[in-house]
Amino acid sequence: MMVEHERFEDFLESIPDGLPEYLADLEIQSIKDNVPIIRKGSQHLIRFMLELKKPLNILEVGTATGFSSLFMLEFLDKKAKITTIEKMEERALKAEENFKKIDKNRQITLIKGDAIEVLDELVSKGNTYDFIFMDAAKGQYINFFNNIKKLLLPNGIFITDNMLQEGRLLDSRYTVVRRDRTIHARMREYVKLLLSDKDLKTMLLEAGDGMAVSVKK
Ligand SMILES: C[S@@+](CC[C@H](N)C(=O)[O-])C[C@H]1O[C@@H](n2cnc3c(N)ncnc32)[C@H](O)[C@@H]1O
Repeated sequence: MMVEHERFEDFLESIPDGLPEYLADLEIQSIKDNVPIIRKGSQHLIRFMLELKKPLNILEVGTATGFSSLFMLEFLDKKAKITTIEKMEERALKAEENFKKIDKNRQITLIKGDAIEVLDELVSKGNTYDFIFMDAAKGQYINFFNNIKKLLLPNGIFITDNMLQEGRLLDSRYTVVRRDRTIHARMREYVKLLLSDKDLKTMLLEAGDGMAVSVKK
């Protein structure tokens, strides 16, 4: 199955996606610099969901150097706004530089800080979003979840990336090496939480490194 999945990703890679040159360059540079960015399968899904939903207020947890924010911007209305959160100073600085160069209409706002605190602040300000993309530290997804639910509007879309941990999530915990067991347990707990939540409808997909698409009722 994983072989088929990899072949599917390779297949997607081989199809011209019409991304502007600056994004293709940023993608190549990020891969070279070992900055983890959304894979082609994830890009495919996000692009499709944005075109379907046409959200106006987007929240992203995990900016890295800004590739996915700028990618999303390509498929959004000029009135749409993206708020994106990054805790690593060096990456946030690079993202800021990239946004300054490319986001001429200032549609993207970068918040530097740990999402655990930033999400609290956004909730206390009464902010709401119709599209949330979570792509940060997998072990913390559970801790972000309650605030994400508060921030998401009814009918809003919530996408979680890196659900499958390169397939390890599907393995039995007994075959997972000791150092990966905590994250494995936390991700399984997160999947259960998502799928059993009464306020959301969630679908798990193999796209990218495994994505969950949730809709708030
Ligand atoms: C997979 S990368 C994001 C990639 C980006 N979305 C893209 O595709 O271009 C995950 C990022 O989340 C950041 N991160 C991890 N935990 C975080 C937290 N608690 N608060 C804010 N950022 C966090 C990491 O520093 C890292 O840059």
